[in-house]
Amino acid sequence: MWSAGSRLVLGRFASKDKTSVLISSLTAAALHTSSTSRSIDSPVFCRGFKIVSIDHEPENKILAVKWNDGKCGRYPYVWLRDTSPDPSTYTISDAMTARNLFMKNFDVEVVPKSTERAQDGSEVRMEWPCGTVSHFKSDWLRTRNISDPDTRQWRRKVYLNQPNTWGSEEITARLKRFPFKTVMETDGGLHDFLEAVCVDGLAMLTNSPATNGKTDRGAVSKIGERIGLIQQTHFGTVYEVSTKPDASNMAYANSGELPLHADFPSLTHPPELQMLHMIERAETGGVSLFTDGFRIAELLKKEKPGVYKLLTTETLEYIEEGYDVHTPAYKRDSDALVQFDYDMCSRHKTITLNDDGQPTTIRFGNAMRSWFYDMDVEKVLPMYRALKTFTDYCYQPRNLLHLQLENGDVVLWANTRLLHARTAFKSYPGRSRTLEGCYFGWDFLRSRVRVLRDQLNLPDNQPSA
Ligand code: OGA
Ligand code: ZN
Repeated sequence: MWSAGSRLVLGRFASKDKTSVLISSLTAAALHTSSTSRSIDSPVFCRGFKIVSIDHEPENKILAVKWNDGKCGRYPYVWLRDTSPDPSTYTISDAMTARNLFMKNFDVEVVPKSTERAQDGSEVRMEWPCGTVSHFKSDWLRTRNISDPDTRQWRRKVYLNQPNTWGSEEITARLKRFPFKTVMETDGGLHDFLEAVCVDGLAMLTNSPATNGKTDRGAVSKIGERIGLIQQTHFGTVYEVSTKPDASNMAYANSGELPLHADFPSLTHPPELQMLHMIERAETGGVSLFTDGFRIAELLKKEKPGVYKLLTTETLEYIEEGYDVHTPAYKRDSDALVQFDYDMCSRHKTITLNDDGQPTTIRFGNAMRSWFYDMDVEKVLPMYRALKTFTDYCYQPRNLLHLQLENGDVVLWANTRLLHARTAFKSYPGRSRTLEGCYFGWDFLRSRVRVLRDQLNLPDNQPSA
């Protein structure tokens, strides 16, 4: 029998004290200073259960583990060798988490030389032919029990991709609004804001700073820096929405209505998130409208299956040709304006589904829809009818959120889930309606949520390795 102190597991693999996991994220934010170790075992599964027996299934090369609450887990040998929490298998430092094994010389048929259960039921020790010794702690195994459907369901939450679709009534009741200052100054506030965007597809900030009653510019870059990385487009990094001569975009062309659309269907990978900050609202109108494209997909699937079929199978082409004048990121420290010419062209299904039949992206923008229909000519009219029905559904009052952004309000939303619009407006005399905006990708936003969950030791934190 070995003593617990002889384990090879280093500090980086040690799980954190779990006493703080029940505090709310905002409280956690207040307590948070800096994190030097990552929690690796989920509080969901870690209840200090004891391993009461282990068994081998040699024909399957699987180790079966049983706990004192009756739960079982089955772990392939190859998987145990591959994920062994020891420093020769994994390099885990503050800067990196990486497996040291190479697939080219990894023995996928590996069988342990010896396997032992600690008498106190706290871990399983395995020695491998290469000499590596692995200590699999009870909590570690519970958290990673892939033979358990509950574990797999819990793990899928790490993708932060379980949208809660809405109609008008639901979102009006639950739209999350956070004070700008809270999100800028507390990590818990930032976490809760970004998590709301993952779930609802949008959330708002209120009361960004103002000087002498006038809203300061720069809020989107500040939030952008908090999130991580603003996504550049052919409009630059941060762009201004106001009526301009030589408009490069319909939003800048005049004070007219903008119909429901997603930005950039002309791009193969349209930015997945968009942020707008109201600097100077209009005197009348300029109301923002949103609809949840994922809810529209659900409704069409049920109520208009023919339309749903066309929109989920046929692609449409989108184009965007022109130029925009802005200061590019590589000249950020200057005011140099550069004309960027572009001729974007891409094609997408209006509703893209994943392998489970769930919508993953919605792409539609009438201004950029091209002339080209790569389909039998008899399908063209049905396609127009389908787009019309899709649009009618988007505009149904049961599906629309109306938001009058006040000066200092910020809205961040999922551009490949929600469609957005604005009503026509009239500016105050001499004060042109003005917004600042930018774009993000889901990866960076979701990464920030995970980093914050880790740093704040929140209950939803999940292990990487
Ligand atoms: C846009 C846009 C909305 C607005 O810039 O993409 O849709 O309120 N603007 O002006
Ligand atoms: Zn837009």
